Amino acid sequence: MNVERSNTNGSPVLWIAAAFALLVVGGLIIGEATPLILPPQGSAESHQVDNLFKIMMVIGGAIFLLVQGLLIFSVIRFRARPGDNSDGLNMHGNATLEFVWTLIPAVIVLILSVISFQVWVSITSAKDNEMDVRATGARFNWSFSYEVPEHNIVVNSSVLHTYVGQPVRMVLNTPDVNHAFYIPAMRIKQDLLAGRETEIRFTPTLEGEYPIFCAELCGSGHGEMRARIVVHPDEETYLAWFDPEVDKILNPPEDPVERGFQVLSSGAYPCAGCHRLDALGWTGITGPNQNGVADRVVSVRVPATGQTPEEYLERSLYHPNEYLVPGFGPLMPQFQPDDPNAPNYMPVDDMVAIVAYLCTQSASGENVCNIDNLLQLASELD
Ligand code: CUA
Repeated sequence: MNVERSNTNGSPVLWIAAAFALLVVGGLIIGEATPLILPPQGSAESHQVDNLFKIMMVIGGAIFLLVQGLLIFSVIRFRARPGDNSDGLNMHGNATLEFVWTLIPAVIVLILSVISFQVWVSITSAKDNEMDVRATGARFNWSFSYEVPEHNIVVNSSVLHTYVGQPVRMVLNTPDVNHAFYIPAMRIKQDLLAGRETEIRFTPTLEGEYPIFCAELCGSGHGEMRARIVVHPDEETYLAWFDPEVDKILNPPEDPVERGFQVLSSGAYPCAGCHRLDALGWTGITGPNQNGVADRVVSVRVPATGQTPEEYLERSLYHPNEYLVPGFGPLMPQFQPDDPNAPNYMPVDDMVAIVAYLCTQSASGENVCNIDNLLQLASELD
């Protein structure tokens, strides 16, 4: 019955050719629309990745239209007419059809894998004149460090700074669990693996500020593990940020409290990912709130532990699991003062500065610690 009907509607070859043309045009339209769902193209790599994505969208779009088109066509064309209670047609396999629908996807996947591999090789290969930036992903915080070999120091930042046209090589490491470094605007994503370094490259091409995410479920604060990249328009603007950072390290303030403010706001340590401290703009939620910590140390922790405030805060950095604040688990990195190459290295000087600063986080703004005792404590550790 159906065969007779289609014969009256013209040649099936014409119909198939028309449907094929429609699929190609539909696929191309869907492909052209892909930029609408993507973030801005911030790097040289983003153009390569997007071109590959566009090819996949054209193919995927055409297949989507084919499948949905056949489905809708069949629902209308082969629906049961009123009064027709007969069984459907008994269909057997069609070897030619099965061969074709296996071969075509296989060829498509093969072509896509070759193009993908080319893009991957091009993105990951070393570029001339690269800038090395080390990114540390720790639950639940990103920090970035820039070596300054001429002064033998490291500039730390909680914001990733770079500039247009400068190839960047990110060296990624983590002191705890696996994370993934993901900058959608740069179209790069790379896992951080516990116990080994990984790397990823990109060359920013578009000035601006873009979000950085962690793309690997790493614990309760995973959704909070975000940072920013600032792409400066040129090297001069970049150095206007970088040079003062170097100066700050070369000429540290005498006052340990001021130094503590500097160390903590530099992002050298991952505190902001878990703790809240309004004075420094920290918004973490998975660790104890540090607003007013100095008062709580005096009124609650000192009586509970029998330690002096400075002693308690020192132990909280180097032996955080010794006394856990009720309601919080042992998530805090165990910082240690001895091995400069350890992922959780915190030199004694930094500990003194951080403790001195936290001691001033009281409602009155008064320092609840005895700085001389703190320095005495530090000298015993050295
Ligand atoms: Cu780190 Cu998710």
